[in-house]
Amino acid sequence: MMLVSPAAERSQDPLLSVLQAVLEDQAHTKLFGLELGSGTGQHITHFAQKLPFITWQPSDITEESRKSIRAYLDATKVQSVLQPVFLDAREPWEKWAGLSQSSCDVIIAVNLLQYSSFSTAEGVFKGSGQILKTNGFLITYGPYAINGVITPIYNEELDQRLREMNPEWGLPDIDVLRQLAFANGLRLERMIDMEESNKCLVFRKVQMIQTHTD
Ligand SMILES: C[S@@+](CC[C@H](N)C(=O)[O-])C[C@H]1O[C@@H](n2cnc3c(N)ncnc32)[C@H](O)[C@@H]1O
Repeated sequence: MMLVSPAAERSQDPLLSVLQAVLEDQAHTKLFGLELGSGTGQHITHFAQKLPFITWQPSDITEESRKSIRAYLDATKVQSVLQPVFLDAREPWEKWAGLSQSSCDVIIAVNLLQYSSFSTAEGVFKGSGQILKTNGFLITYGPYAINGVITPIYNEELDQRLREMNPEWGLPDIDVLRQLAFANGLRLERMIDMEESNKCLVFRKVQMIQTHTD
């Protein structure tokens, strides 16, 4: 069944503009993009129709989401989106659906870091540090805290609602994410103000941090 998220509908064109701006100088090459926490599948099928030079891999932890993504693929007939896979961003990159090290040009995570625990944020940055190619981008979208402060009031209320749903959820602090990124070979390169007091954070992979597996 095709799930519909009104918030995803509202953010899809502003997000597309960011992707176009960040990736436009690579539009002549074939790119590979991974979406974490794809949810309904609305975003990825929308982006695919406008950015044909990117092959997209959608993913989510829930079967309900993957079912919805498959329904969007059937309905839109987009050719450049692969079948959705199970991917839990908390897991080490070796368990990221068989993706290889340095295989992705861009990874996107829309409203994922807010609706999950800090271990997901840690996994997103650790995994992206390994799965992205050098100079690849991790783009995260949603509302954030800045140095512990959340504005405007409706984002503060959202943060409270999220914490009531799950004490481990809530708006992450940009500075904390910046440090997490740094530790994993990524740099926060751009912070873009979006509609409804959301932001896009654009991180670039600058170096490969060696990981040790026992
Ligand atoms: C608020 S929804 C956002 C969905 C979609 N990106 C959007 O903007 O409409 C968060 C999504 O992240 C998924 N998710 C939560 N924790 C996750 C994790 N650790 N790894 C991967 N996906 C996760 C959920 O199943 C859900 O589909």
